[in-house]
Amino acid sequence: MIGVGMQGSGLLSEAITLPGVECAAACDLYDGRHTLAREIVRADLPVTRRYQTLLDAKDIDCIVAAVPDHWHKQVVVDAVSAGKDIYCEKPMSHSPADGVAMVEAAKKSGRIVQIGSQRVSSQIFAKARELISQGMLGDLMLVEGWLGRNDPTGAWEYPPPPDLSPQNLDWDTWQGTVPKRPFDPYLFARWRCRKEYGTGVAGDLLVHLISGMLFMLGINEPPKQACAVGGIRRWKDGRNMPDVHAVVYYYGELPVYMRLNLGTQMPETYRFQGSKGILEMTESGLTYTPQSGKDSAPSYYANSFPRAMREAYFRKWHEENDPKLGQERMSETITFRAPDYDDVRPHLWTFFEAVRSRKPVVEDAVFGHHAALACHMANESYFRKSAVVWDEASKSIRG
Ligand SMILES: NC(=O)c1ccc[n+]([C@@H]2O[C@H](COP(=O)([O-])OP(=O)(O)OC[C@H]3O[C@@H](n4cnc5c(N)ncnc54)[C@H](O)[C@@H]3O)[C@@H](O)[C@H]2O)c1
Repeated sequence: MIGVGMQGSGLLSEAITLPGVECAAACDLYDGRHTLAREIVRADLPVTRRYQTLLDAKDIDCIVAAVPDHWHKQVVVDAVSAGKDIYCEKPMSHSPADGVAMVEAAKKSGRIVQIGSQRVSSQIFAKARELISQGMLGDLMLVEGWLGRNDPTGAWEYPPPPDLSPQNLDWDTWQGTVPKRPFDPYLFARWRCRKEYGTGVAGDLLVHLISGMLFMLGINEPPKQACAVGGIRRWKDGRNMPDVHAVVYYYGELPVYMRLNLGTQMPETYRFQGSKGILEMTESGLTYTPQSGKDSAPSYYANSFPRAMREAYFRKWHEENDPKLGQERMSETITFRAPDYDDVRPHLWTFFEAVRSRKPVVEDAVFGHHAALACHMANESYFRKSAVVWDEASKSIRG
């Protein structure tokens, strides 16, 4: 285990309950999290501040990493280059260039890389994927997704560990390649608020919506174009990333509209709008409401006809379209409910099974790169205040 913080401690606790999975050692730059890892796994668990020690260990088959975004690239590149498979948290990359380097390293090494957007291993997302691929929605018109929070914790104003100091934390290494700043416990806990370390609501939350959408639609590519609006509207605490962020994408020809808000609570929702109805995914389930796409009454435009013409039109319409008595159309909605789609256990299991079987995973480095690019494009568009595109030839975001 590399990184035993908020997410890493949860992943570690879940991973060791899975059959055949054992934690051999844990690494973190903060000694308090060595204590935490030992509390979770066992009192004599080997712990270290240097992750290279884990990569050098012959008895370790694979790594689970939950370090801040600005460390993802180096940890993944070092892990696969050392011959280890790795589960790395989302968003895969901190920048497009990081993502390109990670894809290359993963390909070159042939190791299993899985990125941690757990919805990709969720049963209910697989159900949505099946329904959509069967054509239940007809022609897909538009995809929407949104998520909102309305409390300090949801907006990343986390309390730093009270004992944190340069004595029990390797602050210098924590900062990675970012220009060095004096020790700051708030930065340690609230790195998401700053672009030097995090990727904003885009990388923190939108990436889940995007990864889930790509999986459900069977898409594995970056958006063609992104155009974002937003601002720091609620949490004026020194952050430099927006707390409200709305993005419109083209995925090929498909319009996709996603919005994130840390100032108003709204449950995570997707709405797939098709010519044959709406598929809505929420935390409580998946609901399909069919639509016929046909008129259910004579056109109201005919009210503008003079009476004789209008009555003739209505009569004809009813003769041709009214259902026979007793055969009126019933309206229906179909709902599926499944276990918590935010559960990390199925996603960890997908990874450990791949480590054993060597079968590729869906959310590999390429998929993770594509999902992260959507987030980087959302951020780039927000900062530039203009639409951006992904240019595959130069592997960069352009205006
Ligand atoms: N999948 C999800 O639902 C989900 C949820 C929360 C967080 N995350 C992701 O997990 C990652 C970690 O987030 P967090 O909230 O747990 O952060 P955190 O700050 O709570 O924990 C990160 C830990 O990594 C350690 N660390 C940093 N650099 C390191 C290095 N070079 N070597 C060893 N340890 C190092 C830190 O000391 C810290 O203890 C982020 O990428 C985040 O986006 C994913």
